[in-house]
Amino acid sequence: MLLIAEPHKIKTIRNVAVTTISDRRQALQKVYYNTFWLPQDKVTFEMTANGTSAMSQEQLGEQFLGDEAYAGAKNFYDLEREIKEIFGFGFVVPTHNILGSIKLLTRTQLREGSVVVSNCGRPVDLAGEFGGPTQIIAAEKGDIAGDLNLKKLESLSADKVNFFFVDVMAEGYKPVSLGNLAKLREWCKSHKKFLVIDLSNGVAAAAHSRSHDPSLKGKKLMEIVRMMADTADVMVYDLAEDARCKVGGFIGTKNEKIFEACLNEVVVYEGLHTYGGMTGRAMGIGARGLAELKKEEQLEWVLKQVDHLAGLLEKEKIPFVKGANGVFIDVEKFLTNCKENRAQTLAAAIYHKSGMRCVLSNRFREEAFLPFLLPRLSLTNLQISKMAGVLSWIYASHDQITSLQLINKPAWHDEARYRGAPDFTLPWDWNCEPYVIHSFERVGLTDQREREKAVKEAGYNTFLLRSDQVSIDFLTDSGTAAQSVIQWGRMIEASETQAGNHGYDEFVSSLQEILGYKFIIPTHQGRAAEHILSQVLIKKGDIVPGNMYFTTTKLHQEIAGGEFADVIVDEAHDPQSTFPWKGNIDLQKMENLIEKYGPKRLPYISFEMSVNLAGGQPFSMDNARDLYKLSSKHDIPVMFDATRAVENANMIQRLDERYHHIPIKAILFEMMQYGDGCTMSSKKDCLVNMGGFLAFRDNEEWYKKSLELLRQYEGTTATGGLCVADLLALTQGIREMADDNYIRSRIDATHYLGKLLKDAEVPIVEPPGSHAIFLDAKRFLPHLDQDEYPAQALAAAIYEKSGIRTMERGNVSKGRNPKTGKNYRPALELVRLTIPRRVYTHNHMELVAATIIDLYK
Ligand code: F0G
Repeated sequence: MLLIAEPHKIKTIRNVAVTTISDRRQALQKVYYNTFWLPQDKVTFEMTANGTSAMSQEQLGEQFLGDEAYAGAKNFYDLEREIKEIFGFGFVVPTHNILGSIKLLTRTQLREGSVVVSNCGRPVDLAGEFGGPTQIIAAEKGDIAGDLNLKKLESLSADKVNFFFVDVMAEGYKPVSLGNLAKLREWCKSHKKFLVIDLSNGVAAAAHSRSHDPSLKGKKLMEIVRMMADTADVMVYDLAEDARCKVGGFIGTKNEKIFEACLNEVVVYEGLHTYGGMTGRAMGIGARGLAELKKEEQLEWVLKQVDHLAGLLEKEKIPFVKGANGVFIDVEKFLTNCKENRAQTLAAAIYHKSGMRCVLSNRFREEAFLPFLLPRLSLTNLQISKMAGVLSWIYASHDQITSLQLINKPAWHDEARYRGAPDFTLPWDWNCEPYVIHSFERVGLTDQREREKAVKEAGYNTFLLRSDQVSIDFLTDSGTAAQSVIQWGRMIEASETQAGNHGYDEFVSSLQEILGYKFIIPTHQGRAAEHILSQVLIKKGDIVPGNMYFTTTKLHQEIAGGEFADVIVDEAHDPQSTFPWKGNIDLQKMENLIEKYGPKRLPYISFEMSVNLAGGQPFSMDNARDLYKLSSKHDIPVMFDATRAVENANMIQRLDERYHHIPIKAILFEMMQYGDGCTMSSKKDCLVNMGGFLAFRDNEEWYKKSLELLRQYEGTTATGGLCVADLLALTQGIREMADDNYIRSRIDATHYLGKLLKDAEVPIVEPPGSHAIFLDAKRFLPHLDQDEYPAQALAAAIYEKSGIRTMERGNVSKGRNPKTGKNYRPALELVRLTIPRRVYTHNHMELVAATIIDLYK
């Protein structure tokens, strides 16, 4: 996979807090403009990198696998093994975090009156407490920023030096060169001193070295980190940095004496020698995090995101230096009007405008830089672009900003209190994903040869590929959503029973509220609800009108003895028509049908929202209202397929100016009032991996009959064959789906893909729908006859070229006439690129578009 997109997909998300500008003004006042103390439910994005990174799903899994034994926890040995393998240090002392590591080291190694020589301020306080002071010898002009000044080294009195402490990314933005480390190594060897190295941000330091030192070209990042480690006698490590843990640290060494000394003290300050103040799970997450440092693409993506931010700020001429995990804004140049407290003033301004939080947490002093750091793998590039937008907006308005005034005498930044902040009137419009990535799942990364073999073995049928052979899975949006952490939390909290339960109660009341329907019946997924509905309402010989059809819907109507009649507008069958309401029912066709068969033979109208097989096309509110008027006149019920109801509601909000400012919930509610019941596959809009339901507005007879069938086919009336955990996740999903910011970003992503393809003149079904973009295979591959299965051939070719999996919707799906054995040759011969919810980013869309455009050419 080209590294223009994440080499993984999103597994779980955390919805961010959305606040108003006045919420933020009040929040700032309450905490005396010190962003450190802002309440988290008023913070949209955390701009710090320590412990804030997204975890892999394997790391998340470790959270449940922790061995919480007091001594000898299994996870410790995993950690020890990884440290030895990756960094080459065989003796390991675990600590609660890097402060614990430095404390143990200074406590055991420092002699009274001697000094620690360092390139950073980190050991300053602790060295002072336990022995001698720290002497920081900064780089010289021409050196790499974090290098120790070698000239000064010569004048050092070796007697006084206790050990060297080198952070390979000093203060977060000053990398050290391998050359400098090698010289130090020599000095230490000849003077019998030891070298301690802090490798917590080793990846960025390695990347810096690789781009500045021609001899490192082509080396993997962790090979360079290992070269750094090899210069040292001792390493200290913060697991909450490169290894993407929440907490944890360790000391590693090859020196048995140092190891023994630390072991004797670990019990005093940290914990025991096999846990050092970490839980078993923290060590497990740490071990995984270290093992994942071998995933080069993953490391590269972290670096790319920082480059993306830095590139955007450079364009705007914003003064900053690039750091390991983001940028350090030069506040003196940024806030030229302000004379004091510039860093905190800027932090307050950024928060007030946008809800982003930057924090200062050192000893109190006038800071030259405000760190603006990116949690690793937790943000999308779209979000980062918007963040850069906030900074350039503030930079452009910096003359409106005056210094915060200190009102106390703090020793540390977190104690500081201020008054007098900038007061912006307009909030920032984020217009991007309203969630951060909580955990991710690595995808199959295959090469062309492997894919050629895989697709051949699958008989060129993308359904028969294994998911680990797939890089970007656009087969379906069904059950493939990334659930939120709240959904997961609710699943864990569930108390299971098949009888009455809290999940059922909440599920029913939340749907009653959002749909305005009285009777709610859970089913295991959509087709189960369709089965019951069809059995309850359809008699043999009935005709069921519908706006196109979905395969399972039509099948259940037929099983119940009905026959489907298509009443969708003609435009729906023309992939090139740009009519915006291709999901509409043609009222004339409907009236003709009523006239032909009489209303008694029409048990209900099957009215699908965001018509899937037409390309995810919506119906208009006017069409729904008019249809309901007509059907009510003839006493024919309207039954929605509400599977993609929220998406249809969003399209109404976008396309119908009367609804531009109406909240999505109100639009959805109004839509539902033009019907008498619905089926729903909750695996789509409701943001869960399993579930469905059947609902009726007020007809108790249908409800009772449905319950009869539910008990026979699905499960109990209180679960419908789901478990309580599923019901609770579903209830929470229903809350999240009706959020305006979420649904806007969801459909923006689909439309973004559509636009990229359209701009390159790739033939797609127009206009772009909500859940998928459909390629028109007849126009894409005009040289193939329909009996050569152009859509299937295209789906196979897309996979072979790129590892992207799509779905054929054409001559193969439609099947053959059982009597003649001939293919049906349907009007639409399509390949569906279906977009799972909250799983892929705009960068993935760009990657997919680039592949397909290339293939089209
Ligand atoms: N209705 C529509 C419009 C659907 O798209 C689907 C499923 C169903 C009903 C059936 O629901 O799968 O929960 O039993 N569509 C999936 C798809 C399979 O890929 O479009 P289910």
